[in-house]
Amino acid sequence: MTTNAAHPVRVPLVTEPWGILKSLRMARRNVLSIIPDIATKQPMVSGKTGKRWHMVMDTAAIRHILLDGLEDYPKSVVTKNLLKPAIGESLFIAEGAHWRWQRRAAAPVFSHRNVMNLAPIMTKAAERACTRITDAGPRAVNLLDEMVTTTFDVIGDVTFSGGDTFDRDKVHGAIDAYIAQAGKISLFDILGFPDWVPRPDRLMSGSALKEMKGMADSAIEARSKRGHEGVPDLLDLLLEGVDPKTDRRMSTAELRDNLLTFIVAGHETTALTLAWSMYLMGFDQDAQTRAREEAQSVLQGRAATGDDVENLPYIRMIIDEALRMYPAAGIISRTAQKKDTLCDREVLPGDTVMIPIYALGRNELLWDDPDAFRPERFADRKAIDRYAYLPFGDGPRICIGASFALQEAVIILATLLSRFKFTPVAGKEPEPVMILTLRPEGGVWLTAEPV
Ligand code: HEM
Repeated sequence: MTTNAAHPVRVPLVTEPWGILKSLRMARRNVLSIIPDIATKQPMVSGKTGKRWHMVMDTAAIRHILLDGLEDYPKSVVTKNLLKPAIGESLFIAEGAHWRWQRRAAAPVFSHRNVMNLAPIMTKAAERACTRITDAGPRAVNLLDEMVTTTFDVIGDVTFSGGDTFDRDKVHGAIDAYIAQAGKISLFDILGFPDWVPRPDRLMSGSALKEMKGMADSAIEARSKRGHEGVPDLLDLLLEGVDPKTDRRMSTAELRDNLLTFIVAGHETTALTLAWSMYLMGFDQDAQTRAREEAQSVLQGRAATGDDVENLPYIRMIIDEALRMYPAAGIISRTAQKKDTLCDREVLPGDTVMIPIYALGRNELLWDDPDAFRPERFADRKAIDRYAYLPFGDGPRICIGASFALQEAVIILATLLSRFKFTPVAGKEPEPVMILTLRPEGGVWLTAEPV
């Protein structure tokens, strides 16, 4: 790990080819450490580690893969095998017609109006986070843990709120354990290490998954019988969801798989984005002061609401920049179905094609001084090449929850910064470690002083 006064933490990338065993040893601990350094300097890097793989950083080639090549570049087999036991053939995993109808049925769930209606839940979670931080003070607080709790508060309240059959802590524990296990396996498969390489333990036991699904099914059945008071949450909206083309509605199992998908795909990613934003706020005190001034002048002592979001442009720029430097989904991967040419290089059926979102955000051909934290880069969004900045992916499979996540992150970050001054704790710098997602290993330790 390297850091200097001018730049926040980063992982030194590989500058020389490693043998398979060294790659394996390093990758097991941190996938970032096997992204070759040239991936931040060149448009495409290819290699063979068991099977053929390519990392693509060229914006035109990425557009071709994500936008035009939906059928030719489906999500990698690995991603699917990995997540299927937990979230079935849901939106995140399905392909072809089965993906299309689910996407059409779920799209209205995340309309601007519906996401706005859920903002009070985010505001309440931000208030609760402030209370916990105040209660913990004046000691240093691990903002990573805080943000995981806060975003789980939100996702729990917008999916299975109000029922008594759903044990939130149990589901939280089961999902976090699953993500941790799944991540360990995926990196071996992504790189296609041969089968003789010893692998970490198999995924968590079937019975824990079964119990989680059972609880979700009972909550869904209770909800469809008894309904639910107040603003419609994601479960209500998905229950109403219908594919306008086929009139198909989701069965209980499909609803459950998609709601669990929202939890798996949305909770940790948003927590990590907030945790990295908080790390950057500790790192750059001037930016923190500017952000606090903006938040205080808009909020005037209250917690942020959905309506405040558009008036907090600097807070949003900090989140955008955190997503460039530390994208929660650091790599997305596809399996090529057809022979193709990308950047004058041959791609064969079966090749793994990765878009290392992390290296894209750090690519010297695309960004000026990419290792520097400069939220102002996002002041003029039109000046940014769309395919140089992909924290939410792109094309038809772009993250369905992006506006939900951004609204939540702005509300929580603005509320925290308006109430506390955060200073870093000496000797407690986090290490960027990517397993499935990009985490600040060791936590984000900051001292919070009420202002
Ligand atoms: C900062 C937070 C988030 C980040 C960084 C993020 C990132 C991503 C990325 C990169 C993809 C595309 C993956 C690919 O193409 O292989 C994706 C897809 C998806 N995300 Fe998110 N996500 C976030 C929050 C959320 C939230 C809050 C939800 C739901 C409540 C969500 C639900 C989904 C779903 C369902 C898909 C699959 C969409 C499809 O294939 O049609 N995500 N996300």
